[in-house]
Amino acid sequence: MTVVEAVRWSVSGDAVDIVDQRALPARLVRRELRTVDEICDAIASLAVRGAPAIGVAGAMGLVVSLAPLTDLGAVDFLAAVHRAAERIARVRPTAVNLAWAVRRVADRAAATSGAAPAMHAAMRDEATRVLDEDRAMCDRIGQHGLTLLHDGARVLTHCNAGALATAGIGTALAPIYHATSLGWKIAVFADETRPLMQGSRLTAWELVQAGIDVTVLADSMAASLMRGGAVDLVIVGADRIAANGDVANKIGTYALALAARHHGIPFYVAAPWSTVDAATATGDDVEIEHRSPAELGDGFAEQIAPEAIARYNPAFDVTPAALVSAIVTDRGVHRAPFDFTAARHADGREG
Ligand code: MRU
Repeated sequence: MTVVEAVRWSVSGDAVDIVDQRALPARLVRRELRTVDEICDAIASLAVRGAPAIGVAGAMGLVVSLAPLTDLGAVDFLAAVHRAAERIARVRPTAVNLAWAVRRVADRAAATSGAAPAMHAAMRDEATRVLDEDRAMCDRIGQHGLTLLHDGARVLTHCNAGALATAGIGTALAPIYHATSLGWKIAVFADETRPLMQGSRLTAWELVQAGIDVTVLADSMAASLMRGGAVDLVIVGADRIAANGDVANKIGTYALALAARHHGIPFYVAAPWSTVDAATATGDDVEIEHRSPAELGDGFAEQIAPEAIARYNPAFDVTPAALVSAIVTDRGVHRAPFDFTAARHADGREG
C-alpha cells in the first residue's frame, strides 16, 4: 500500500520538504521550504494543508528559518524566534495545531540555556518530536478507529483528512488504511469539497495510490446518497475540537452531520489529541478563517460567478457536539457527553 509522505525533513536537514498539494492530482511535486516567507506562503496558499500537517510544517519551518541566525547573541536569537513564531502561527487561525506546534518549538528555545546554537539544536529536536508524535498519533487513531469499521463498510468522508493532511497516515483515513492492510474491503465516498476540492483532488488521489475503492461525489449529493442507504458511517477530521466537543472542520461538515443524524448514520470525528483545545470552551469561540472571494468565483478555467457578486467563503464550520456520535483520538474513542476540559487538565497539559 503506497501512502504519501506529505511533510518531512529534506535530506540535508536544512529545509522542510513538502508535497505541493496545489499541483495534485495532475502532478506529484515536492518543494523545499527554508525561509519564513516561504513557509507562510506555503501554509496560506494550501501548498501544505490539513491541521496536523500545517502544525508539523510550521514547527519544522521555524527551525530551518532560524538556521542562518545562530551567530546572533542569545537574547537577539530568542527575539527572532518569537517574531518568526508569531508570524507563522498567525497564517491560518482555525486549526489549533499550527499555533500549538510552533509555540512548542519556541518554548523549547526559551527553556534552553546557553548560546544560540544550543537553542537551535533544541528547537530541531522539539520539531522532530512533533513530527514523530504526529506519525505515531495517526497510527493510534487508525487502531482505535478500526473498532468503528467492519469488512465491507461504506464510508463517507469530507475534505482531506488523510496522509496528505498529516505527517503520517492521516486521521479520518487512518482506520481505512488499517482496515485495508488487514485485507478488509472498504468503499469510500469522497465529497469533492467545494470550493477548493480537497476531496476530489486529494482524498481521491491518495486513496487511488493506496489501491482503495473510492467514488467522488459533489457535496450536494451526500444527503441523497445517505437516503438511498449507501452509507454505513461518516468519518471526518477536525481543525479544532472545543472543550464541549463542538468540532470545527472544513465547511460542509456541519451539513453532513445534520444529514447523517436525520438518516440514523453514525457521524465520527478523528483527530490527534493536539487538535483538542481546552482553552476553547465551545464552537462559538473558534475563529473561522474566511478566504479570498476569488476562490469561490474564479476557481476554474472559466469564471463561474458574475465578477461583481458578493461571495461568502468561510473555510470551516462548526458541528455541534450533539451531532457527533464519537470522537476518535490517539487516546481512544470518546463518546458523549464530551468534556475535554477535564481530560486536558487531568494530565497537566494546558491549552
Ligand atoms: O483548508 P484545509 O484543506 O487545510 O482544511 C482541512 C480540513 O478541514 C481537515 O478536515 C482537517 O484539517 C483535518 S486534517 C487531518
